[in-house]
Amino acid sequence: MPRKTPSSLPPSFRLSEMALSLWVPQAIYAAAALGIPDELATGAKYSDELARAIGAHPGATHRLLCALALLELCTETANGGFELTPLGECLRSDSPDSVRSWVLLMGGKGVWKAWGNLVDCVRTGEHAWKLEGTDVFDAMRADPEEAEIFNQAMLELTKRAAGAVADAYDFSGLREIVDVGGGYGTLVAEILAAHPRMHGVVFDLPHARDGAERLLEEKQLAGRAKFVAGDFFDAVPAGADAYLLKSVIHDWDDERSLAILRNCRAAMLENARLLLIEPLAPERVGSSPFDGIIVGSDLNMLVNTGGRERTEAEYRELLEAAGLRVARILATP
Ligand SMILES: C[S@@+](CC[C@H](N)C(=O)[O-])C[C@H]1O[C@@H](n2cnc3c(N)ncnc32)[C@H](O)[C@@H]1O
Repeated sequence: MPRKTPSSLPPSFRLSEMALSLWVPQAIYAAAALGIPDELATGAKYSDELARAIGAHPGATHRLLCALALLELCTETANGGFELTPLGECLRSDSPDSVRSWVLLMGGKGVWKAWGNLVDCVRTGEHAWKLEGTDVFDAMRADPEEAEIFNQAMLELTKRAAGAVADAYDFSGLREIVDVGGGYGTLVAEILAAHPRMHGVVFDLPHARDGAERLLEEKQLAGRAKFVAGDFFDAVPAGADAYLLKSVIHDWDDERSLAILRNCRAAMLENARLLLIEPLAPERVGSSPFDGIIVGSDLNMLVNTGGRERTEAEYRELLEAAGLRVARILATP
């Protein structure tokens, strides 16, 4: 974020600036969509040189670069060129820490348009896609390009979380894990890499098949892991000894979440366990530095999926209603 507006300024000024701050995600999105960080990867460039390389208007490119400099994604060099900062590096498509697809998802036409309906979502309690007679996952079935951006975005976020999950939980001794709504299989791949005898199933809608099979092949796990297409509202693959649900339950309201959890419960062997991987919402916001992410994600679920971020008490209630017993809550970094 740019420098915070000093709180000594009049409230009306602070509020005006907050309202205008929509430039922030859109400037970052534009940089990613135009491929600016990839062009700057080879070194500093003048704005007109960069504009030529990306096929954009020179003056407008310069203005965007100034905004990106204020956001600390790039810096202006002494001779007037622009070069990437460590923050900007994360927007390169080939960076190991890239969040480019996440940025493209958040600022892209579907999610951005949905946020424009927040007022109606709050009025009705329904997500924006439903107000237009659809659903974000149905829309993805019909739009492979959007589905690829979504799945890549999840891969980027989960890549960073997967190691923490694999470290936090003792998976040793498990024979088979099923990642329900597992996307491209990033989490399964990380866990299987650390447990050479374990087998894994990535269960998701058909749009994730190609990406998941590609990833499992790349990680040389095709012999121990497979992708199974299906609908978790119908059933999930039965008979494994552990089920993972990461960033899935927060996509749904209580009724739909319960349906997914009950289907997992029905598929589980007697001693099987379910690992629910989600952030916990605070009982009251304002106590943790992560509250901004939780609040943002909660509203994002309200407008985009109809889901929500939940507190520990809310998760306990859901899990118990699905016939599951909470054994442990583990924190990860
Ligand atoms: C927010 S993503 C999480 C993906 C993955 N678990 C991760 O954390 O990277 C939710 C996943 O649920 C999948 N999903 C949505 N509806 C589904 C359904 N009815 N049956 C199976 N999977 C579904 C989506 O395709 C998507 O991959």
